[in-house]
Amino acid sequence: MTAVPFGDMKAHVAGMRAEIDAAVARVLDSGWFILGPEGDAFEAELAAAVGAADAVGVANGTEAIQLALEGLGLAPGDEVVTSPLTAAFTALGVLRAGARPVFADLDPATLNVSPEAVERAITPRTRALLPVHLYGHPVDLDPLLEIARRRGIPLVEDACQAIGARYKERPVGAISGIGALSFYPTKNLGAFGDRGAVVVNDPEVAKRMRRLRNGGQSDRYRHEVSGINSRLDEMQAALLRAKLPHLSRWTDRRRALAARYDAGLAGAGVALPAEQPYARAVYHLYVVRHPRRDDLAAALRERGIGTLVHYPIPLHLQPAFADLGGGKGSFPVAERAAGEILSLPLFPEMTDAQVEAVIRAVREAAPGLR
Ligand SMILES: Cc1ncc(COP(=O)(O)O)c(C=O)c1O
Repeated sequence: MTAVPFGDMKAHVAGMRAEIDAAVARVLDSGWFILGPEGDAFEAELAAAVGAADAVGVANGTEAIQLALEGLGLAPGDEVVTSPLTAAFTALGVLRAGARPVFADLDPATLNVSPEAVERAITPRTRALLPVHLYGHPVDLDPLLEIARRRGIPLVEDACQAIGARYKERPVGAISGIGALSFYPTKNLGAFGDRGAVVVNDPEVAKRMRRLRNGGQSDRYRHEVSGINSRLDEMQAALLRAKLPHLSRWTDRRRALAARYDAGLAGAGVALPAEQPYARAVYHLYVVRHPRRDDLAAALRERGIGTLVHYPIPLHLQPAFADLGGGKGSFPVAERAAGEILSLPLFPEMTDAQVEAVIRAVREAAPGLR
């Protein structure tokens, strides 16, 4: 039996240890640790990689969302329409920006927000749309951008899981003008710690983001507005610079593994993710669906296969968001999906033998669970 962990960060580090050590040494030898030349270079390289005019490195993806929204000048009671099936941090970023998350149900084919549901969720208090490119599969942006344009509401992309993904040939992130990225270690481009970035096209907004992440300072010790401390440090910037040139190779490997799953699991009794015609997905996660998900996960565990669920509790049913309204039954597509989804192992260092072992285990386990 080939055991397959859900992820393997040790293999990831081993695959580029010399470059990591060189980046660490460079920063240690520089004697400079916060907001410096490594960060500046990373921001320029990142912006180029995602086709944005600029990128502003911050402490994590949650604060990237918070700052991108804060830059819109939200007031208490303002609403931001987003997905109920995402990392809770999406909605926490909205709350920290001083606004109220309002959820819109999903397109069952992609588990990204449905434009019709977004339209229905808009009220006179809506100040932004915040769709999520879930699992690294782009949301169908054009209908959402059309709604945003018609209603005069900005759209911020939560691209935390989707760096490198393409929507109609364009890299996601700043297609709408502004978006958030996360470099949480297991993300497709991961730091060795928490980090994130706002990717942005308007130079004035980029300037505002740089101010907000640094306590609101316009000049040293002059705090023009009340920002936060969400500065990018040189160590993580240097490490991310070492990793960025590998991203497209890692993405290709993720896509090849996903294609292997697509072929090997066809007819295995699990519903497979379907890449849409407008999308080039980066498979941050490979998520299948089965009505007896927990039993399938247990059967795979017995066969040495690690799985996770992203995410078992839709946000409107989380205790932290109970006061937003929206009880059970409010978002049936999201609720049903949350009970059926299962993320299979998929990481660039995964071997052909490992992907075959997962396919074999699913093909053994799933048919018995009807
Ligand atoms: C879709 C999504 N949004 C936001 C976040 C928040 O990013 P971070 O963990 O870097 O704060 C994450 C990651 O957890 C995410 O997956």
